[in-house]
Amino acid sequence: MAILICPKCAKKHKVNFDTVKENAPLGKKIAARCKSCGHKFPVELDKLINQEKEKSEETKINTRKICITLSKGGVGKTTTSVNLSAGLALAGYKVLLIDTDTQGQSSYILGKKPRAGLTELLTKELSPEECVFRARKNLWLLAGGKSLAGVKRIIDRKSFGAEWTLSEAMKDLDHRYDFVIIDIAPGWDQLIVNVLFYATEVLVPVALEVMPLQGLAEFMKSLGSIQKYRKEVVLKYIVPTFMDARIKGPETIYSQLKKLYPEYMCTPIRYSESLSESPSYGKSVFEFAPGCTAAADYKELVRKVTLDESALL
Ligand SMILES: Nc1ncnc2c1ncn2[C@@H]1O[C@H](COP(=O)(O)OP(=O)(O)OP(=O)(O)O)[C@@H](O)[C@H]1O
Ligand SMILES: [Mg+2]
Repeated sequence: MAILICPKCAKKHKVNFDTVKENAPLGKKIAARCKSCGHKFPVELDKLINQEKEKSEETKINTRKICITLSKGGVGKTTTSVNLSAGLALAGYKVLLIDTDTQGQSSYILGKKPRAGLTELLTKELSPEECVFRARKNLWLLAGGKSLAGVKRIIDRKSFGAEWTLSEAMKDLDHRYDFVIIDIAPGWDQLIVNVLFYATEVLVPVALEVMPLQGLAEFMKSLGSIQKYRKEVVLKYIVPTFMDARIKGPETIYSQLKKLYPEYMCTPIRYSESLSESPSYGKSVFEFAPGCTAAADYKELVRKVTLDESALL
């Protein structure tokens, strides 16, 4: 499937790419008519082909491992981890959400109380199947919680290879999923280093409410120090959170971020009360308030991450 956007009314249309290719051999000029406003416009076939190629290259990687992190607390890491995972699952992808935080909030937000989770996987007390909990259709959870504090001590005491503990534990598990999304606790410790030795993509939520640039610069430094030993982990997305168009501050910070990091910028997640209320009901934003602005913003993030402009339309 490719996507054509009408230049007049901006309506998005799904196009069966194979049919287009059959009827319009390369080099032939073709035109499309918008079903919505009737506008006729030329179609750049090369652009469509590139769109498809990019998408298939991205999806060729069997499992995408995305960690959601920033050392600063309260920036929307857990909210983004849970709602991005829920959105990807709704779009039909198989998703494993790993909660590496001792606060264990992911289970709470999804309204579940798994008996086991990441601790039992890392200590090998239970088999991977017993540690993973099915939270929704297409969405599985490796829960976090208080017991992870003990695991961190075990990792700290390892004499060598400590940073690969998570990667080793995930070896027989992650190939079952299209996406592994990892929620990281604030701060910096051995478990966070483990996640950065396991994940390949980094998504950083940046709260537009409070001076975020220094925190982001510091995080970039820490990531750089990991990349000296593990080149595969790269920053892919910066997601501005708590966007509030009614006040000037967030807009100004957003413009600064766009100038500094244009290649990583995603559409901001707007400030939304539904996001702070939905966890008390054990629901993702798509279940709690599917029509709210935050649900629309997280859908946009799903499209950005999957490179599928038609996902969840
Ligand atoms: N866009 C938003 N609009 C309104 N409230 C939000 C938004 N994003 C997150 N919140 C709320 O802000 C609080 C902090 O969010 P969250 O727990 O996701 O941050 P965090 O970075 O995971 O925090 P921590 O560093 O403690 O793990 C939560 O109560 C959450 O419901
Ligand atoms: Mg959190």
